[in-house]
Amino acid sequence: MEKIVSLCKRRGFVFQSSEIYGGLNGFWDYGPMGVELKRNLKDYWWRRMVHERDDMVGMDGSIIMNRAVWRASGHEETFSDPMVDCKTCKSRHRADQLPRKDDVPYCPNCGGRDLTEPRAFNLMFKSHAGPLETDENLVYLRPETAQAMFVQFKNILETSRKKLPFGIAQIGKAFRNEINPRNYTFRSREFEQMEVEYFCRAEDGLALTDYWLEERLKFYEDIGIPRAKIRINDIPDGERAFYSKKTYDLEYEFPFGVSELEGIAYRTDYDLSKHMQHSGKPLEYFDEEKKEKFVPHVVEPSAGVDRTTLALLCEAFDEEEVTDEKGQKEVRTVLRFHPRMAPVKCGVFPLLKNKPALVEKARAIAVALRPHMMTFYDEAGAIGRRYRRQDEIGTPFCVTVDFDTIGENGPEKHDTVTLRNRDSMQQERIPVSELRARLEAAVF
Ligand code: GAP
Repeated sequence: MEKIVSLCKRRGFVFQSSEIYGGLNGFWDYGPMGVELKRNLKDYWWRRMVHERDDMVGMDGSIIMNRAVWRASGHEETFSDPMVDCKTCKSRHRADQLPRKDDVPYCPNCGGRDLTEPRAFNLMFKSHAGPLETDENLVYLRPETAQAMFVQFKNILETSRKKLPFGIAQIGKAFRNEINPRNYTFRSREFEQMEVEYFCRAEDGLALTDYWLEERLKFYEDIGIPRAKIRINDIPDGERAFYSKKTYDLEYEFPFGVSELEGIAYRTDYDLSKHMQHSGKPLEYFDEEKKEKFVPHVVEPSAGVDRTTLALLCEAFDEEEVTDEKGQKEVRTVLRFHPRMAPVKCGVFPLLKNKPALVEKARAIAVALRPHMMTFYDEAGAIGRRYRRQDEIGTPFCVTVDFDTIGENGPEKHDTVTLRNRDSMQQERIPVSELRARLEAAVF
């Protein structure tokens, strides 16, 4: 994991938030490469979950909502983790994550065993809406995006004119005041979720939960996380939320252990019923054909953007021994991202930076590709080093403009470039006129 963390800093994927002031535990910033990776993930999720489907619409809800939402959903009362204090060093910990020796829990900070009894710690961040810090003005930063989709169910149903089954999708920030943020970005206090609330008839709920499990596994495969690396945890009776009839957790083999990427929960009609009860507003669905009115049930595939981004980084990270042009052995660090996730799709280089004709041509190719894909122009250093830099950020293709390209070695190879493949390191010559179509077919 240290190697991945170090590469992420060195190559501009992830930085500690507020780093020059010592950072802030549980908060992270994504740098130039990280933001592209995350954007590719979110855009592809949106494409698959919304644009490519007839039964799904999107929304973008506010982060701060009426406090009544969180009373109705049960978050105000029960969204908590058990917390203990160490009486020796005064540190605070999640009671269910304490290390144990001879079955006795101890403080991971000082090793002390003098701990308080566990008590519930609500994870919602508090603030106030308006200038008065009164109880009436108390608001929470949302701990999940889901509730906006339940609260806006009626508006969306009426404006989109969808029929059951249909879903609402949302991507956005969520906040949880985790007692112990840990494992890099895995458990953060500020993170993003990609959630679907898929509304259906009660009799279809269980089958649709299995349908979504399969859809989501396909999605992970299509972004480069193979099924073999995902463990499906079918949460047994008694361990699920009391209103859930079925829940699958999808868990990925992170270097620090197998941990949750996404939950797929059949939540029955719990959420809409609760909001109907608390708001006094009708949230039923009317089936025109059957002349029936009922509260829809819901299946919720809920994924974390940051956790999936971390899984993409872990899955892509590789080191291999290669021999350079001088016959020296060296370790090549390469991020083998699926091309559709790669932050930069194509690197473009002139063979030499002191030959104006090469530079001009390479720049023109980069400018022509830029409107279509993330392209990186680089003329600094030996060509081998430039390839290595692109390998380290996972760029699937590099184009080099050489003397053949500018016609110095005859007309045959004029206006052709070398196209280098990141994984095989093989190069082939292709006409500049075919470049864009070739790359587009491979990277989207
Ligand atoms: N609406 C359901 C819901 O929020 P959850 O299992 O609490 O369910 C869904 O969260 C997903 O959000 C998780 O599978 C995970 O990917 C992500 N997530 C939750 N807490 C997180 C945290 N503290 N840091 C990063 N991601 C988190």
